Amino acid sequence: QDELKQAVAQAAADHVAEQAPAGAIIGVGTGSTANFFIDALAAHKDRYRGAVASSEATRKRLESHGIAVLDLNDVDCIPIYVDGADEIDAGLNMIKGGGGALTREKIVAAVAERFVCIADGSKLVDTMGKFPLPVEVIPMARAHVARQLTKLGGTPVLREGFVTDNGNLILDVRGLSISDPKGLEAQINQIVGVVTNGLFAMRPADLLLLGTDTGVRRIG
Ligand code: A5P
Repeated sequence: QDELKQAVAQAAADHVAEQAPAGAIIGVGTGSTANFFIDALAAHKDRYRGAVASSEATRKRLESHGIAVLDLNDVDCIPIYVDGADEIDAGLNMIKGGGGALTREKIVAAVAERFVCIADGSKLVDTMGKFPLPVEVIPMARAHVARQLTKLGGTPVLREGFVTDNGNLILDVRGLSISDPKGLEAQINQIVGVVTNGLFAMRPADLLLLGTDTGVRRIG
């Protein structure tokens, strides 16, 4: 699987080198696939002005390669954001947040002009929902949000011993039927106390680079 992740990460770095203008700021995701992308991006680092990181872990890895990390508030244009996913469907809707970075990922993705998802073949699914949906929650609202998620048919479980980069908690929700990803994304975000949830359907990916045994497939 690591080889598939490495192959898509390299394909993404090549794609960024082709598509992003010299001096651009690149949005960088979080997770094991994104880590391979950071390593591949480092080879072209002088081409770019720097990167915006979707987590503290990503910020540290970028800096360890000597890539400048900018504050999103100082940036008005990110031509491309590259990130992994926990599940992705044929419409390029995703579940993200297995690593707990969903809120910052969603913010950087919202600013970016294009979202390139990099994933190994196991992440492509017909219907999302087998992977528990992460929901970032303000700590004092944990029990309230859990009750509301249960009413929606899910089984929320607190991610034990985990605090997000924003100082919040994660509820991982099993058993949701995700036939309407956009609708469910909006519905969960309406619950008071939810910061955001890991459905990326209102802002899906624009391109999926999928690692398979026969090479990197481009979808989108
Ligand atoms: C991080 O919070 C997630 O959204 C990741 O993008 C996702 O979990 C994919 O991670 P891997 O590349 O490690 O599978």
